[in-house]
Amino acid sequence: METPGYFLTLITFPLILRQASATDKWCYDSQDINCGPAHWKDVNHNCGGENQSPINFDWTRMRRDQNLGGITFQGYDRAPPGMWRLMNNGHSVLVQLEGETVIWNMNISGGGLPNIFQVLQFHFHWGSPTSNGSEHTVGGNQYPMELHIVHLSVKYQSIADAMKDPSGLAVLGFFFTIAEADNPNYNTILAGLKNVSSEGNFVDLEPTFRLDSLLPSTNKLTRYYRYQGSLTTPDCEEAVIWTVFEDTIPISCAQLKVFMDTVHFGAIGETPVKMRNNFRPPQPLKNRKVYASKDAIINHSAPVHVDWLTLVFLLLLGHIGALRVRSGP
Ligand SMILES: *[C@@H]1O[C@H](CO)[C@@H](O)[C@H](O)[C@H]1NC(C)=O
Ligand SMILES: *[C@@H]1O[C@H](CO)[C@@H](O)[C@H](O)[C@H]1NC(C)=O
Ligand SMILES: *[C@@H]1O[C@H](CO)[C@@H](O)[C@H](O)[C@H]1NC(C)=O
Ligand SMILES: *[C@@H]1O[C@H](CO)[C@@H](O)[C@H](O)[C@H]1NC(C)=O
Ligand SMILES: [Zn+2]
Repeated sequence: METPGYFLTLITFPLILRQASATDKWCYDSQDINCGPAHWKDVNHNCGGENQSPINFDWTRMRRDQNLGGITFQGYDRAPPGMWRLMNNGHSVLVQLEGETVIWNMNISGGGLPNIFQVLQFHFHWGSPTSNGSEHTVGGNQYPMELHIVHLSVKYQSIADAMKDPSGLAVLGFFFTIAEADNPNYNTILAGLKNVSSEGNFVDLEPTFRLDSLLPSTNKLTRYYRYQGSLTTPDCEEAVIWTVFEDTIPISCAQLKVFMDTVHFGAIGETPVKMRNNFRPPQPLKNRKVYASKDAIINHSAPVHVDWLTLVFLLLLGHIGALRVRSGP
């Protein structure tokens, strides 16, 4: 095997520089509706496939799986020895460990995952001042922002190989909710955003930080949804085991606005367009099943069941009422 730096180059270039190839022109509607998500299947037929992400979580169509217990997070609770590098890849801002210091020291396992999966990078999807920007939705509702932590199965040495396996990658998704107070754990990333204003910019973040500091407290990470899906950007490879958590990450309105106002889609020299609404809308579930973890609450945000029961109750009442009227004197 080559040096860790070379290894990193091999596996990150497909993610970061894929848009460089001529046939791969894609964008979000906020940039140009002519290359937005509706056109991605023309960029790569994968994007029109049977197992696409994101999806809407509809708890009436979810099954609880008692085998989906807690996930084991290893190394998330220690600041890595090297620095985190923040970069603007023209579609999002992503963070990964800086070149030469890459040692595979953060991974997840358990929770029904078929293997150990190592952290590759994490990135965000967000909206605009007037609209939310999560990719997954719950009961049809979008959250303000979503964090994705992308992991590679230990079975593979490169993303290219993992892309061919439905269990090649594991992505953890976390929703953000608006809080009154700032979330100080995001200060380092937020401060770095001004250094990655244009596509291709990157900056090494100081100080380094523990990955779990960005997440809801780990004792709550037993409530999640699991399904088989894809990358949410072209080439939309159907190689992802998705885990999306019920517990959310708090962030203030002012902090969210820093994402919306500081980074831009284009490279230096191109007309600057604020990076906003960089999310793909939910895709058809088709024949897939979505599972809720053992501890998931599932009904917390979508009282569909209650509404339906109430409706039946009212109909029954109305029916009885009508009978009584009809049979009355
Ligand atoms: C997973 O992470 C832990 C903690 O950093 C490390 O000790 C272990 O070697 C890692 N396992 C793999 C397979 O990478
Ligand atoms: C946006 O997210 C907030 C906070 O989760 C929620 O209260 C609001 O209803 C959402 N708005 C839309 C249009 O989905
Ligand atoms: C980040 O940007 C700030 C303000 O523009 C600047 O002072 C600082 O030197 C930059 N940091 C790096 C590492 O480029
Ligand atoms: C949601 O489900 C839990 C048990 O899973 C139950 O205790 C709670 O009452 C339910 N809430 C609603 C609003 O249905
Ligand atoms: Zn993503």
